[in-house]
Amino acid sequence: MSTTASSFVCSPVASASSGCLLPPSKHGAAPTMAKLQGRRLSCRAAATAGSGGDDSVVRRNIDRRDVLFGLTGFAAVTTTNLGLALAADADAGAAAEPLCATVPITAEVLKCNAEGGFHCPAEYDATKVVDFSSLPLPSGPPRVRRPAHKLDDEYIKKFEEAVRRMKELDDEDPRSFKNQSGIHEAYCDAHYRVVSAASPEVNFDVHYSSIFAPWHRMYIYFFERILGDLIGDPTFGLPYWNWDSPEGMIMPSIFANESSPLYDELRTPEHVRAFMDLNLGPAKQPNLPEPECTDDILCLIDNNLYSMYRQMTVDTPEEFHGGKFCTAGKKYTGSLENGAHTAAHIWVGKDMGNLRTAARDPVFYSNHSNVDRMWHLRSTKLGMPDLPYQEWLDTSFVFYDETKRPVRIRVQDVLDTSKLGYRFEEKKKLEWMQKRPKPSSEIKRPFIAQRSVTPASAFPVPLKKGQNEYVTVERPEKAQAGGGSSKKAPEVLVLDLTVDPCEYVKFDVLVNVPRGQEDKVGPKNSEFAGSFTHVPHGGGDGGRMMETQEVSYRLKLREIIEDLKCGRDKRLDFTIVPVAGEKTLVNSVRIDIL
Ligand code: C2O
Repeated sequence: MSTTASSFVCSPVASASSGCLLPPSKHGAAPTMAKLQGRRLSCRAAATAGSGGDDSVVRRNIDRRDVLFGLTGFAAVTTTNLGLALAADADAGAAAEPLCATVPITAEVLKCNAEGGFHCPAEYDATKVVDFSSLPLPSGPPRVRRPAHKLDDEYIKKFEEAVRRMKELDDEDPRSFKNQSGIHEAYCDAHYRVVSAASPEVNFDVHYSSIFAPWHRMYIYFFERILGDLIGDPTFGLPYWNWDSPEGMIMPSIFANESSPLYDELRTPEHVRAFMDLNLGPAKQPNLPEPECTDDILCLIDNNLYSMYRQMTVDTPEEFHGGKFCTAGKKYTGSLENGAHTAAHIWVGKDMGNLRTAARDPVFYSNHSNVDRMWHLRSTKLGMPDLPYQEWLDTSFVFYDETKRPVRIRVQDVLDTSKLGYRFEEKKKLEWMQKRPKPSSEIKRPFIAQRSVTPASAFPVPLKKGQNEYVTVERPEKAQAGGGSSKKAPEVLVLDLTVDPCEYVKFDVLVNVPRGQEDKVGPKNSEFAGSFTHVPHGGGDGGRMMETQEVSYRLKLREIIEDLKCGRDKRLDFTIVPVAGEKTLVNSVRIDIL
């Protein structure tokens, strides 16, 4: 097992015994606050150090919006510190904000590392790359992506035949299933590094940033074209796993047929024909929300729809997509990635349950066809804008198309699916759109707030299953004065976390629920703000991943404050209910206005 300073192998042994939250040399001792702070350079400082002390390049790369975010966040923390220290400390507050030096991500700055015998996806010849934007727009009938549970026999045969042919292609062919699934492994398991004069060399990952949605759109778009080409059908559309609708909340049966090329034996057997739980809970332990839902399918469906509503209707593109890819290592995930998408990975389990192996299971592509549809619905049905900044729009990658030609495609090329030549077959009703959660009627009121803000010294808080954590947080003064925030400047709860990349993590967050009444609240209630979930990245033979992941997650509070009528309150009480994961640290909790 070889380890380098910047990455290490999450072997099954390491995960089972000492774990892999910290690099092997640091195993044994729980990370202390001092150690954590020592590692948490501010993004700017780290980038400056890496670029040899000249921070002008770095400064140029910090766009104005990030600076504004940074200032807002810093001001909020500072205000709190003056009165009642909330965040770990001022330094942590500054480091926690996305005041983050970035490098525009393009194929030129990404280098695949074959260390440890990894088979990098077929290398392309840079002189042969064509720009997607220079190619003619698709003509002819669009590809139609259909719900995978509703395919007729003819379509199932097509899909199976296409995947069979892809699996039969030579390993060296960039279109082969092996190479196609290897693309995902390479881009998510630290095989790519960002190599640029403007940044320290860091691992690259398409997850946990705003690159998530467009990268996966590009990836499955070319995958779909290759499949269509292999069966000579330019209208072939990648079926989607319709988990946001009650009839799609079981893994589509086409993937469960053992003699089909769509089958993967590495799945959690008891979930193959079971009704999905998009909330991935409750675990079998006391004090977890919704124990009554375990065997009740209607209750599960309802909870699934309420949680879809929450993740789809976040107020801002930042909450939906996550933050910039930060070259200082800090990540910031959005609700599209962190919600049902993650739940589907964990639900299917084994191959799908680890991002390193996920794309070896054909159901992966239908999961992502639906993730893609969720983004499409948000832009069209919900009319919500995407991220505005140019650096995101200019982010580009190179993929092989069906003729084995390397094509460079940018984020701005993929914002409109009709320009890519595909559409989704939809039924009339989107059930989750009407599922705004309501306050619990079971909680015995009046709710007595704790009224003293959790002190700085309480952080970092290690999360342990079965042990709820209670945190009281000051609201920004501006929001209190106005009786609540607005859609344009919504309040969000920001959790800064350290997670172990090798383990599955889940915890729920409840708002203003009296101690001991946690079990009266579930996803259908306003008090249930949502969950943080993390799909393991490394682990197993040959898995690589970053040392730890510093990640921020934002939970939408605006509607909750409205529903609970607490717009004039100074503080909110949060209950963190750990469900899975043994090594997560909560480094700070605060309320920001976006
Ligand atoms: Cu790249 Cu669903 O993961």
